[in-house]
Amino acid sequence: MRVPTIYEYSQKGRKAVALPALSRPEDELLAHIPERMRRATPPGLPEVSQPELIRHYTALSRLNYGVDTGFYPLGSCTMKYNPKLHEDLARLPGFTGLHPLLPEEEVQGALAVLWELSEYLKGIAGMPGVTLQPAAGAHGELTGMFLIKRYFEERGELPKRHKILLPDSAHGTNPASAAMAGFRVVSLPSDRRGMVDLEALKRNLDEDVAGIMLTVPNTLGIFEEDILVITKLVHEAGGLCYFDGANLNAFVGRARPGDMGADIFHFNLHKTFSTPHGGGGPGAGPLAVVEALVPYLPVPEIVKEGDRFRLNFDKPKSIGRVHPYFGNFLVMVRALAYILTLGDEGMREVSAAAVLAANYLRVRLKSTYKLPYDRLCKHEFVLSGEGLGEGIRTLDIAKRLIDYGFHPPTIYFPLIVREALMIEPTETEPKEVLDAFVEAMLRIAEEAKTQPQLLKEAPHSAPVRRLDEARAVRQPVLRQPRPQG
Ligand SMILES: Cc1ncc(COP(=O)(O)O)c(C=O)c1O
Repeated sequence: MRVPTIYEYSQKGRKAVALPALSRPEDELLAHIPERMRRATPPGLPEVSQPELIRHYTALSRLNYGVDTGFYPLGSCTMKYNPKLHEDLARLPGFTGLHPLLPEEEVQGALAVLWELSEYLKGIAGMPGVTLQPAAGAHGELTGMFLIKRYFEERGELPKRHKILLPDSAHGTNPASAAMAGFRVVSLPSDRRGMVDLEALKRNLDEDVAGIMLTVPNTLGIFEEDILVITKLVHEAGGLCYFDGANLNAFVGRARPGDMGADIFHFNLHKTFSTPHGGGGPGAGPLAVVEALVPYLPVPEIVKEGDRFRLNFDKPKSIGRVHPYFGNFLVMVRALAYILTLGDEGMREVSAAAVLAANYLRVRLKSTYKLPYDRLCKHEFVLSGEGLGEGIRTLDIAKRLIDYGFHPPTIYFPLIVREALMIEPTETEPKEVLDAFVEAMLRIAEEAKTQPQLLKEAPHSAPVRRLDEARAVRQPVLRQPRPQG
């Protein structure tokens, strides 16, 4: 189903709104705009009535699928429902109307939000330092790599320590961030359990190692049972331990990375703490760090003195800014609101529900779909679409799920599982929804045997069928010529 562009409805003279009359004569207003900056021709905007306008955008919005319309088990993305209360708070005019260049004394409330959030994040991580500046998880990773670099630079250990160890079960942004910061990435294989192969780790630990980046839990949804051994070994070799904490909904309120030997931990506020992920909007990837790295954190630091807040730029060892102003402020408002709404007990319920939901799906699906790492998972798990039917691939299963009204899981990632289907139900789904998803998956498995063509040609019910995804990425057509006349 193709929705016409708004220009295609356009009829000369139609109007959706009546604009107020000009308050001054047109010539007088134009006098303020230099001749060379005035348009010679009208802008060619569509001319439509208000019902046409509303119907057009409503029709477009119906083509969209989001967390507010249905189940979205996109592994690694934590596409959970975010309470609307926090949206309301982030839209308070006192927050949205702030200018980042206002003097400190006029933004005490905003600084209090940032300071309080930092304190909560320190508590959740069990680490003494926090920066809120990074704008995303990957940005937090890059910032963390810069901190590691600065740490070794200060100790005179650069360029010797130039290697970052990365399990092959890490999130894809991890190696990219390490490489962008100038480190050499050394891949560590996973063992049969889906965890870091300790022997491989030991073989690679030498005086060139700057650190390790661990995704916790990893992209198989498995927590490193040997995490204390891993961090101890890396520290003994003189390296630092970076934890990618984007999957924090798996253990928030139950375990603290600081107690596990993490030196740096990044949060994805836009996954775990009430900002929608994947909506194309702003995010935030704050870092928590151990004492030894606090001097290198970005400036400015927000300091509380009595009941006043001030910005401290006097940090000579800081790596500098990684974001203009304070980062994405409204994401932080939502995060603080979420933490305050849930409290300690609520946080523990989040991780309990996330892990329970994932294990429920895992157990219900594992006799029908291959489960290469069959063990208790945390917030997500990875099936394989292999062997379901003649010529059937994971892509076909994903596309057929659309016909059943579900957003497909992440597919073909992590790379260590062939034909991967990475499923993250999140903590906000009721059992009925999980059951409906299982039913759809079981029916698809049956169809794969009896009517494989149905899967091969899916989706049948979506506005568009199979796209040439590679071409859509490489040659995106983002403009449509305006009809003439
Ligand atoms: C485990 C993990 N690490 C890092 C990231 C990167 O975060 P961002 O997309 O905010 O850069 C993600 C994103 O979902 C993730 O799931």
